[in-house]
Amino acid sequence: MGLPRGPLFWLLLLLTAACSGIFVALYSSAVESYPEHRSGARNSTSSRAFLGPKASNFWMSKSTSCRHPLYPAIQRHPHFRALFDLSTPVLLSGGLFTQELWDRLGQHKAPYGWQGLSRQAIASTLGLLNGSESSRLFAVSRQRLPRCIRCAVVGNGGILNGSRQGQNIDAHDYVFRLNGAVTRGFEDDVGTKISFYGFTVNTMKNSLLAYAHLGFTSVPQGQDLRYIFIPSDIRDYVMLRSAILGVPVPEGHDKGDRPQTYFGPEASASKFKLLHPDFISYLRERFLKSKLINTKFGDLYMPSTGALMLLTALHTCDQVSAYGFITSNYWKFSDHYFERIKKPLIFYVNHDLSLEATLWKDLHEAGILWLYQR
Ligand SMILES: *[C@@H]1O[C@H](CO)[C@@H](O)[C@H](O)[C@H]1NC(C)=O
Ligand SMILES: *[C@@H]1O[C@H](CO)[C@@H](O)[C@H](O)[C@H]1NC(C)=O
Ligand SMILES: *[C@@H]1O[C@H](CO)[C@@H](O)[C@H](O)[C@H]1NC(C)=O
Repeated sequence: MGLPRGPLFWLLLLLTAACSGIFVALYSSAVESYPEHRSGARNSTSSRAFLGPKASNFWMSKSTSCRHPLYPAIQRHPHFRALFDLSTPVLLSGGLFTQELWDRLGQHKAPYGWQGLSRQAIASTLGLLNGSESSRLFAVSRQRLPRCIRCAVVGNGGILNGSRQGQNIDAHDYVFRLNGAVTRGFEDDVGTKISFYGFTVNTMKNSLLAYAHLGFTSVPQGQDLRYIFIPSDIRDYVMLRSAILGVPVPEGHDKGDRPQTYFGPEASASKFKLLHPDFISYLRERFLKSKLINTKFGDLYMPSTGALMLLTALHTCDQVSAYGFITSNYWKFSDHYFERIKKPLIFYVNHDLSLEATLWKDLHEAGILWLYQR
C-alpha cells in the first residue's frame, strides 16, 4: 500500500500525525461471507446505467445471473445511492478531447486536470486513443461479455499472506492488480490471473526499485492484459504515448526509457487505458474527500492506486470482490503480502488509508462489494 518514500515523507507523516490524528478508527466487524450477507438480494436490474434504453433488456437478463449484483445494492442504500453516478466516464479517450475540456481541466492540477501541462503532449497522446476500445475497459463486445461481469481487485496488503485465496481470486472473470503485484511464489494466496494492471509511472517504477528483492522484477505482461494509466503527472501521458507508438520516451523525466521493457512487445492503443481526470475528481469529491485536502499537504493527497482500481471496478463490473485491501485489523498484518519480515503499514500523508478503510467497510456492509477480511 504505502510505497517507500524519502525522509520528507517521514517528516510529513509525523507532522500529520500530530495535527490530525491519522490512525484508523477501529471497528470490530464480524467477517461475513458474501452469500449469507446478500441473501436478501432480489433486485437484479442492470448495473450498467451508461447503456442506452435499447440495451437495457439485454443487461436486465444478463445481470439476473449475478448472485450479488452491485447496482441494486447501491439503489437500496440511501447514502451510496446519492454518491454513485455510473454515467460518469471512467476512461479518457481521444473523442472526449475538446477545447471545453482543455479549458476546464486546465484549472486543476494532475491527477484531476492538466494545469501547467503541455497541450501538445496531452493532445498527441489522446489523439492515439481514438478507437472505440479506448473508451471501454473490457475488450470484447458487450454481447460476448460474461452474463455477469465478476471482478476481483487485488490490493497488495499483508492480509493476503497465508490467505489461500488464489483459486477464489482466479475464478473471477477479470482480475485487477496494481503496483508491486508479484504473483510468482504467492500463487496459493493471490492467484495468477491478471486482466488489468493499474499504476502511475511513478508508482510502477518505485515498485520495481523497492520490491525487486522481494520478487517484483518486472511489470506483469500478457496477451490479454490491459494497462490502466493513472494520469498523475505529465510523465504518464508521455510514457503512454511512447508505449502506444512503441518508441523510446523522447523527453522529460523518463527520457530514453523503452516502454517495451515494462509492457512487453505489443504496442497498440488497445493495450492501454487512461483514467479520466474527471473520474478521479469525482472519486475524491464523493468517496474520498479527505480532511488532508484542506491542510498544507493537500497537494500531495490523492486516492491510493488500490482505491482508484477498486472504484474503477465498482463503476464497470457487475459484481466486485476486494482482496488485500485495508481492514480494521490491518495492524495484525505486514504492509504487503510479499514481505518476508513483518513490516508495519505506514500512513503517509499522500493517501488517507483510514478514510479508505472506512469506505471499504461501509461498501461491504451495504453489499456493494465483498471485502476479504480475516
Ligand atoms: C429494481 O430496481 C430498479 C431500479 O432502482 C427499480 O426500478 C425496480 O422497480 C426494482 N425492482 C424490484 C423488483 O424491486
Ligand atoms: C486514429 O488516429 C490514427 C492516427 O492519427 C489514425 O491513423 C486512425 O485512422 C484513427 N482511428 C480512428 C478510428 O479514427
Ligand atoms: C506470513 O504468514 C506466515 C504464516 O502465517 C507467518 O509466519 C509470517 O510471519 C507472515 N509473514 C509476514 C511478513 O508477516
